[in-house]
Amino acid sequence: MANLSSSALARTAPLYDRVKRVIPPPEWAVFAEDVDAILALKRERNAVVLAHNYQTPEIFHGVADIVGDSLLLAREATKVNADIIVLAGVHFMAETAKLLNPEKTVLIPDLAAGCSLADSITAQDVRLMRQRYPGVPVVTYVNTSVAVKAESDICCTSGNALKVVESLGVERVIMLPDEYLAQNIATQTDVKIIAWKGHCEVHELFTASDVRQLRENHPDVTILAHPECPPEVVAEADFSGSTAAMSEYVGKQRPPRVVLLTECSMSDNVSVLHPEVEFIRPCNLCPHMKRITLKNIRHALETGRDEVTIDPAIAAPARRAVERMLAL
Ligand code: 13P
Ligand code: SF4
Repeated sequence: MANLSSSALARTAPLYDRVKRVIPPPEWAVFAEDVDAILALKRERNAVVLAHNYQTPEIFHGVADIVGDSLLLAREATKVNADIIVLAGVHFMAETAKLLNPEKTVLIPDLAAGCSLADSITAQDVRLMRQRYPGVPVVTYVNTSVAVKAESDICCTSGNALKVVESLGVERVIMLPDEYLAQNIATQTDVKIIAWKGHCEVHELFTASDVRQLRENHPDVTILAHPECPPEVVAEADFSGSTAAMSEYVGKQRPPRVVLLTECSMSDNVSVLHPEVEFIRPCNLCPHMKRITLKNIRHALETGRDEVTIDPAIAAPARRAVERMLAL
C-alpha cells in the first residue's frame, strides 16, 4: 500500500506541480492514488472526463480531459470520440451530454447531483406557461430536466442567453426557469422577457451590500458576478458573464485583485492559471457540484455506474431544443 501510494505520488508529481498553490501537499498525498487510478482507467476503458468549472481543483486540473462552462461542455460533448463520457458536474449536464451522444455511455459519479434551478420547474409548468402566453416562444436554460427541455423551443446557457433571445426575432419570449438570469438579460435587450420564479441556491445568496462591503475593504478590487446572481448584484459588479466568460476576463484583463461572485472552486481553478492575480474569496459552495469526488469518479469508471438514460419519448424534442441553440 505504501509502495502503491509512493509510486502514484511520483507518477502524478507533474500534475501536482500545476495545482500546488491551491492544494497543500498532505491533501495531494491523499488524492494521488485516485488520480493515478483514474488516469489508468480512462485509458483502459477508452473514457473521457468532462468537468465543469465548479469542480474541485484535483478533479479539474487532475483528471479532466475537457473543462468549461455549460455551453462548452455541451459543444464538446458532440465531438467526443471515446466510448464513455464521465460527466463531473451535475445531472442536467450529464443528460445534455447523453442527449447529444445517444450511442455513447454517459456516466455520472453521483446520480443525486442535482440543481435548484432544474428542480424549480416541471414539464407541466411549461405547458401552463404556453397556455397563459399563447404563441410566445419558450427559451429554456440548460439547467433543466430533459422533460422541460422537450417542451421548449430552444435552450440557452448563461454564455449565450442574450444571443438566443435576440435570434428569435420576436417581441416577447418566455425565459425559464432562472428569474435573475431573465432579469439580467432583460436589461440588455428590447425583447420583453416573461420569467419564472426559479433561483440558483448558490448565487441568490450574494447581495448588493456584499459588493459594497468588498469595495470598501478592497478599493482596487475588480468584481465579477455570474448572471444567476440577483440583478442588484450584477448592477454593482464590474463585469457579469458565464463561468467561462469570467475566466476569460481574468486571463485578458489580469486585474491585480479580483472577486468572483460565484461557486468557490472557480477561484481555485482560475487562480492556478493566473498566479499573479490575487483572488479575494467570499464565495458559496454548490452542494450538488460537491457531490462529485475523485472517489466516485474512480468508482464510476470501475463499475460503469451510474449510467444516464433518457426516456426515448422525450429525447427527440429535447435534443432539438439543445441543437437549435448549438447551431446559432
Ligand atoms: P455556466 O454555464 O456559466 O458554467 O453556469 C452553470 C451553472 O450551473 C452556474 O451555476
Ligand atoms: Fe445549480 Fe446553482 Fe449549483 Fe449551478 S451553482 S448547479 S445553478 S445550484
